Amino acid sequence: MEESIRDILGRDDGGGEVTVRGWLRTARHAKNLSFLEVSDGSCFAGIQVVAGPECPDFEDEVRGLGTGCAVEATGELVDSPGKGQRFEIHASQVTLVGGVEDDYPLQKKRHGFEFLRTIAHLRPRTNSLGAVLRVRDAATRAIHDFFHDRGFVQLHSPVITLSDAEGAGDMFRVSTFEPGQVPVDEAGEVDWKQDFFDAPTFLTVSGQLEAEIGALALSRVYTFGPTFRAENSNTSRHLAEFWMVEPEVAFCELVGLADLAEDFLKSVFRQVGEQCEDDLAFFNERIDDSVLETLEHVVEEPFGRITYSEAVEILEKSGREFEFPVSWGADLQSEHERFLTEEHFKRPLIVTGYPKDIKAFYMYRNDDQRTVAAMDVLVPRIGEIIGGSQREHRLDTLKKRIAEQGLPEEEYWWYLDLRRYGSVPHSGFGLGFERLVQFMTGMANIRDVIPFPRVPGNAEF
Ligand code: 4AD
Ligand code: MG
Repeated sequence: MEESIRDILGRDDGGGEVTVRGWLRTARHAKNLSFLEVSDGSCFAGIQVVAGPECPDFEDEVRGLGTGCAVEATGELVDSPGKGQRFEIHASQVTLVGGVEDDYPLQKKRHGFEFLRTIAHLRPRTNSLGAVLRVRDAATRAIHDFFHDRGFVQLHSPVITLSDAEGAGDMFRVSTFEPGQVPVDEAGEVDWKQDFFDAPTFLTVSGQLEAEIGALALSRVYTFGPTFRAENSNTSRHLAEFWMVEPEVAFCELVGLADLAEDFLKSVFRQVGEQCEDDLAFFNERIDDSVLETLEHVVEEPFGRITYSEAVEILEKSGREFEFPVSWGADLQSEHERFLTEEHFKRPLIVTGYPKDIKAFYMYRNDDQRTVAAMDVLVPRIGEIIGGSQREHRLDTLKKRIAEQGLPEEEYWWYLDLRRYGSVPHSGFGLGFERLVQFMTGMANIRDVIPFPRVPGNAEF
């Protein structure tokens, strides 16, 4: 493979002939010289190619190049006199590889994010989406590094599943039945026995239940995969398809889990900060001027830790008029979460001990009988970024919780089995990967931190 622009810009010295291939961000044609900014996406910066009449086909080809053209350029790598660029290329040859038609939608330098979403097939060529995709990649690597450094085994949880891991029912159905030809049984009910899996199946909302299977054999596992939620939430923080990272640890209780979550976020932020300096500098300059400060703050400062009851007390005493009223027993809304983390604590916050009635069936019931050993990590601007808990590992209590929530016990038979054969205290959490990337980059809408957003009403690209 040829050197990428990133490799070339990373050289100590100029000199020698290089070849770059990429797409023109801009082309400026002066009197006898053309200035072509070539980007290949390998790093934030492009490289400037300066071409003159000594290039073959200068008049017929090079002078006609414009934004979006795919080119190959060869020439001498020299120190650049220009500000903010280390090298430029004095071309001996520039070849057009793929031209653009006149209606190329990315002619302008800056487009609104909303418009860019309508051209998801082209928007990775913009500065912002390119930077997002590199940050996603760096964060992915940082996540795998973090867990592997600590002896976790990656577990591949299934995408198609029978069980509703959250007991919340926001699931996409998976079926090979033809619409209009769905078989029914004698009672007039849909006959799922005739469907592909002989049972109703869905896209997973979380890999947690399977991760628990893994943790109760391999002690420390994590999953990292796509998850799906059919909630009709048209917000800047919800996707119908998003990626989740879910560690699950045996012989671990809630405090150990909170420590793991804090170490995890600090480590991922540190590594991405080191690897994506230029991309993050861009976000700080153009998108949100607190990006770099936030990054440093997350890495350096300890997170706050409070209980749900303390959170409710703070909110009640805040004197703030919230849209949703605050009272013990009600779930924290995004406005409450943001007040706590942005204004009151001014740092990421771990909230524990939520009322059992607003949390999922699998959470460990505390001795007070009314709260569970749940844990949410809240961060400024986003609110909840991580949700997790110690798991209910006592068979009787778990059965009670399943019944209380009106869930069908027989569907959780294997989950209950885990409590009958060598059950141990264990804990885990789920990080919403896109919310992490949103937090790191300062991007306002979650649809702009995933290459192909799936939201109600749209799954085109
Ligand atoms: O809090 P949630 O629903 O927790 C679970 O699914 C647990 N089973 C995780 C576990 O304990 N292993 O989701 C976890 C995280 C949330 O904190 C949020 O960051 C993200 O997933 N999330 C979403 N991100 C984007 N779009 C959505 N619709 C999301 N729903 C949850
Ligand atoms: Mg949650």
